[in-house]
Amino acid sequence: MSRFSDLPHARIATAIAGVASGIAIIRARQSRQRMERFAAATLETLLNAIDANDRDTGAHVRRVANYALILAEEAGLDDRACRSVERVALFHDIGKIHEALFDIIHENTTLTPAERREIDTHPRRGAAVLSPVAKFYPDLSEGVLAHHERWDGTGYPRRLRGERIPLAARIVAIADSFDVVSHGRRYQRSMSMSAAAEAIARGRGTQFDPALVDLFLLPPVLDRIREAKRLFRAPRIPPSEDRREPAADRDAPDVRFRWRSPVPNDGGDAPASGPARR
Ligand SMILES: [Fe+2]
Repeated sequence: MSRFSDLPHARIATAIAGVASGIAIIRARQSRQRMERFAAATLETLLNAIDANDRDTGAHVRRVANYALILAEEAGLDDRACRSVERVALFHDIGKIHEALFDIIHENTTLTPAERREIDTHPRRGAAVLSPVAKFYPDLSEGVLAHHERWDGTGYPRRLRGERIPLAARIVAIADSFDVVSHGRRYQRSMSMSAAAEAIARGRGTQFDPALVDLFLLPPVLDRIREAKRLFRAPRIPPSEDRREPAADRDAPDVRFRWRSPVPNDGGDAPASGPARR
């Protein structure tokens, strides 16, 4: 005899419905986790493509991601928002790997006005490259599109002003500029930490969100930035030099702050030879 035989039908039905609902919740969670890992793998593939095309840009975007995450955390953003900021930082310059900009970026000369105008198309080019994932990460292409907007409304490409600029883009703008001046460029020596901080301070309220600049310049925050800069190691093996066979069973990447941990190698935080023009 069934152990349910003495229960009213309604109670049995309720119990079955409860079990079914529990199974559905578990399956939905597993399905979401698989989707998140697949999305992270897709983004990592894109990051590999940046490395393969231009290793200096690959290192630049990782440094920017480190600094942007510190600023996002210090601003009190939750985990989800921090991951969004990280994604915008990692792909903010993906428009620069476009064929139309490659020669301009890798020439060892100061930009002409015409070249400058071409380079200034990279936020739109980047947003276009990322448009297939816009349904999944609407904040990503928006942030990439806006990372050269300025707080005072004189930036590009849409001349957004103040808080109309997405927060992730405002954070990345500071991290990006800090990296450019503190790491140096092909035709420009790197600045000291204090000189780079002064350069950020000079952009307060004009180029950058003043509240974020104030946060960035707090001594404990600068200490974290300095430590991240000291510990940073560029990716050791670009995909083109990776001699490992592709492994179908290789673990999918972790979706949480995958690029945060430096990969030890023989590099340092000194400027790499011949960083690309920004
Ligand atoms: Fe940029």
